[in-house]
Formats: sequence, structure tokens, C-alpha cells
Amino acid sequence: MLKTRITELFGIEHPILQGGMQWVGRAELVSAVANAGALGFLTALTQPTKEIQRCRDLTDKPFGVNLTVFPTLNPPPYAEYRRVIIESGVKIVETAAGVKPQEHIDDFKNNGLRVIHKCTSVRHALSAQRMGVDAISIDGFECAGHPGEDDIPGLVLIPAAASRIAIPLVASGGFADGRGLAAALALGAEGINMGTRFCATQEAPIHEAFKQQMVANDERATDLIFRTYRNTARVARNAISQQVLAMESERKPFTDVAALVRGARGREGLERGDPDHGIWTAGMVQGLIEDIPSVRELVERIVREAHSLIRGRLAEMADTKSAPSKGRAA
Ligand SMILES: Cc1cc2nc3c(=O)[nH]c(=O)nc-3n(C[C@H](O)[C@H](O)[C@H](O)COP(=O)(O)O)c2cc1C
Repeated sequence: MLKTRITELFGIEHPILQGGMQWVGRAELVSAVANAGALGFLTALTQPTKEIQRCRDLTDKPFGVNLTVFPTLNPPPYAEYRRVIIESGVKIVETAAGVKPQEHIDDFKNNGLRVIHKCTSVRHALSAQRMGVDAISIDGFECAGHPGEDDIPGLVLIPAAASRIAIPLVASGGFADGRGLAAALALGAEGINMGTRFCATQEAPIHEAFKQQMVANDERATDLIFRTYRNTARVARNAISQQVLAMESERKPFTDVAALVRGARGREGLERGDPDHGIWTAGMVQGLIEDIPSVRELVERIVREAHSLIRGRLAEMADTKSAPSKGRAA
């Protein structure tokens, strides 16, 4: 129903992506996204490689793998991850948070994969374009996870990027519904990428308590932690994120907060259903989440709503002959 260069590039039905999500981007969710006609990404760093096979067993539609490159003292063996991805025959990769992304991009491109690079600034988008990626996903300040240090919200970042880059652009951060998709298209993007919204679906492999918490939370329920370490992360506000902020305000070094924010601790909380046990990632868009639909219902609803907004309310406003529409909804 909505054709863009993104649907063409990836051979998908709808211009909607589910970005890589540590612990959450597993075969159950990614295959449901693929079967709904959108594009999901498994997460290479936290998911065993058997997820690729599991995902294949659950869908014959395209899906991808996210490779997140974090600045760390002891980097994981990225070259091995790339090998596994390439040899698995997966055709689409999302690279993110790149420290020296060129070697990853070259390897994937030389082996015939399509690469979408996720970044948080126009300058990084331009440099990824120069490095030869096929598309850019631009994450605004609203996003869950790492928004970078520039703090530019999507309303400015998306059109700023769209004006400067030639390859297809996906808008990311703060999207949950058809209004967002229509807005992203108007701002110059050719699709949307969602993280938090896909966590609150029936197929997301996380405890129900987190999904209910996202429905209950409003748009203020996030904290920006790690700002003092210049590695800002937007997470759901909870007892631990507040504790981290208190320690940061006392200028405590990262080594002091490390035990609180350990990935394993966050994962334990996710499995146990305790939203206050560890840090968990979620965005401001929680304020737009009101239910826990199936992935298919969600994707179809978003596309239907965007389509009827474009054809209905917005078209009516542009049509000088018709009376002004009273309704606000699509
Ligand atoms: C639970 C969770 C885990 C995430 N983990 C990663 C990750 O490992 N790598 C990555 O590139 N992005 C990660 N993200 C960011 C998403 O891929 C996406 O860019 C972001 O969620 C978009 O903002 P939104 O949540 O407002 O839709 C994560 C997001 C969430 C909600």
C-alpha cells in the first residue's frame, strides 16, 4: 500500500523496520515482523547464531541481522560475527554505533549484502553514505538506546538528513503509529524504524510485566544515563536508572556503576518480570503505547492509518474545494 525506495531495496511489503534490540531481537519477534511484511533484525551480539536458522524455520520472507559496534576496551570478535552473518546467507545487515564502520561495511558489501547504517547525526549519515551503504536509519534524540550526544530530535534531524543524503533514509526514534509514519514520509524519510513499540507486542520474547509497564508509562518515563561518560543511553526510568543518575551527579567513575548496569542483570530482570531489577531500554514513545497487539495487527494498523491520513485528512486539507475536516484521527 505504501511503496518507497525502502520497500523496493529490501523487497518488503511495508516501509517499517524493527531495529536490532539486545535480548529482544530474537527469532520469535523477527520472524513475526517478516511475516507481517515488514523487516526485522536479529541481534548478532547477544543472540546465538542458531537464531538465524530458527528464524528461517519460521519465515520465508526477508529478515536481517544487526551488528552493533560499541566502543569498548575488549571488543568482541567482530570479524568472526561478520563471517557467521555472511556465511549464513542472510542478505541484509543493520550496522550501528560504528567505531570504524568502514571495515564492516566493506566486508558486507563485498559479499553482496545490503547494508543499512543506523546513526544519530547528519555528519555520520554523510560519512556512511560515502562508505557505500545502501540506506541510512537516522535515530533522533527521542530514541531508546544510544541517541548520541547532539540531542537533536527527529523533527529537525530527519529533514536535515533527508536534505543532505541521496540514498534512502529511514526515520527512527519515537515512532509507534500511522501518524508517525505519515509524518516521517512528509519529512523526507522513506520508512520508519521502531524499537520500543515492537517490545509491546504479543510476540516480543520478554516478560509480560515489561509490556504492561510500557503501556502504563507515559512519555516522561525515561532517563538519560551515562551522559557523564559521553556514552548517553536512554532507558526506562526505574529504581536503578535513578540510582545511576544520583551516582553520576556525584561524578562517580563508571567502575562504580558497572555492577548496577550489567547486561546480565538487565536480562535477569527481563526474564523474571521485575522492571526494577536492572536497566532496560525503552524510549519516550512509551507515551504512545496503549495496547499489546500482535505484530501483524500493529504493522497493518500503522500502514492503514498512515494511508488513510495521507488520502483522507491531509488530502482534504490540500483540496481547496472540500470543507475542512473536523476529525483529528485518521
Ligand atoms: C530493548 C531495546 C534494545 C535495543 N538494543 C539495541 C542494540 O543492541 N543495537 C542497536 O543498534 N539498537 C538497539 N536499540 C535501539 C533500536 O534498534 C531503535 O534504534 C530504537 O529503539 C528506536 O527508538 P524507539 O524505541 O523510540 O522506536 C534497542 C532498543 C530497545 C527498545
